[in-house]
Amino acid sequence: MSTWQKSDWRQKPRVQMPDYTDTAALNAVEAQLSKYPPLVFAGEARSLKQKLAAVSRGEAFLLQGGDCAESFSEFSADTIRDTFKVLLQMAVVLTYGAKLPVVKVGRMAGQFAKPRSAPTETVNGVELPSYRGDIINGFDFTEEARVPDPQRMLQAYTQAAASLNLLRAFSKGGFADIHRVHSWTLGFTDRDEARKYREMAERISDTLAFMSAAGVDGGNSNKLSTVDFYTSHEALLLEYEEALCRVDSTTGQNVAGSGHMIWIGDRTRQPDGAHVEFARGVINPIGLKCGPSTTEEDLKVLIEKLNPENEAGRLTLIARFGAGKVGDHLPRLIKTVRELGANVVWSCDPMHGNTIKSATGYKTRPFDNVLGEVQEFFAIHRAEGTVAGGVHFEMTGKDVTECTGGVRAVTDEDLSDRYHTACDPRLNASQALELAFLVAEELAGQGDSGQAAAV
Ligand code: PEP
Ligand code: CO
Repeated sequence: MSTWQKSDWRQKPRVQMPDYTDTAALNAVEAQLSKYPPLVFAGEARSLKQKLAAVSRGEAFLLQGGDCAESFSEFSADTIRDTFKVLLQMAVVLTYGAKLPVVKVGRMAGQFAKPRSAPTETVNGVELPSYRGDIINGFDFTEEARVPDPQRMLQAYTQAAASLNLLRAFSKGGFADIHRVHSWTLGFTDRDEARKYREMAERISDTLAFMSAAGVDGGNSNKLSTVDFYTSHEALLLEYEEALCRVDSTTGQNVAGSGHMIWIGDRTRQPDGAHVEFARGVINPIGLKCGPSTTEEDLKVLIEKLNPENEAGRLTLIARFGAGKVGDHLPRLIKTVRELGANVVWSCDPMHGNTIKSATGYKTRPFDNVLGEVQEFFAIHRAEGTVAGGVHFEMTGKDVTECTGGVRAVTDEDLSDRYHTACDPRLNASQALELAFLVAEELAGQGDSGQAAAV
């Protein structure tokens, strides 16, 4: 029996977390959140874990995506619907192209807290604390907005609950029925990739009509008319995570009630730090970002701490090295995993290692570098005989201009047109779909030589 307590992280060194000045207000919010219902249940976290176990064996593929930071001001049914639509489209492209089931996980309904590269930012000679996500402080560049306010946790909880409610309705209430595959297109994805999508949707509709005529879809209608959709976020704000942590009454195990899957960021993965301490005690699937500074020794300790039973589906290693650098790092970490005989899912985040400052001053990510990192990731797994299990994108269903390139080439000059992100630049719907087609090609290629057994 584990002696882990959900508050144990408080004894460990913490980084990237706010210093709340009003302790009484913080305690009151924590007490209130602790009484609220959890957003997800243990059985759901377990079912996602089983699906990820299939991913680790090469029998399914993980698609994880959504906002860099969800915001209070952009919160609307349309925003959620459009991101969900793009994820459905991407999933169809991947399922159809790779002939593999796709495990769908949103960076949604909880992705509010952000690690920052500097504790303060300076604009026109004025220095203020950095924005850390709407769950912590405000985006406006004023002294008041930047003070960490515990009340924001309650608003984040409410927004996450309402988002999840809508996502559950979309997933199970008819919207995600594969017969509606044509209706998920968004008005502005009107070029090559949209045409490719329409043609594929046409073929799927034909197949469905044929199956129906042949009487073969009757027993399986639930599979065709609903999807399983899961939520995930970086478990950064541990006061919030602890307050939503619950004991599963059927097993006595601890579950993070804030989302189905939580991950540990590249800046908070200290093996003896607070974030690892919290994550190790909950039964949810855990993601671990691995960047260029991840050492083999740290990875070994982290795997042993986060997945001591070597349970398949428990741990997803999310590689984020940057285009041109995957070859320097992924093979050495694959070697560590192999030496341990560890069960892991390997996923590729081609966003966070590819952020640059554009000529026009905006933080951006060139589409070619994003694609390049994905291709390097697949090539290395092919060479190593390991499973390239998934992708992790920052994307939105909105027609934003935040990443450059893509079929509808966004230029440095275009970035100012619709640059809406509260944090990192996201792929727009067209770029996300285009990438899905390219990943499907990689996966289909991988299929030819056969995905090797999990290492
Ligand atoms: C993120 O996923 O938004 C993030 C901050 O990533 P990383 O920890 O990999 O930098
Ligand atoms: Co980000």
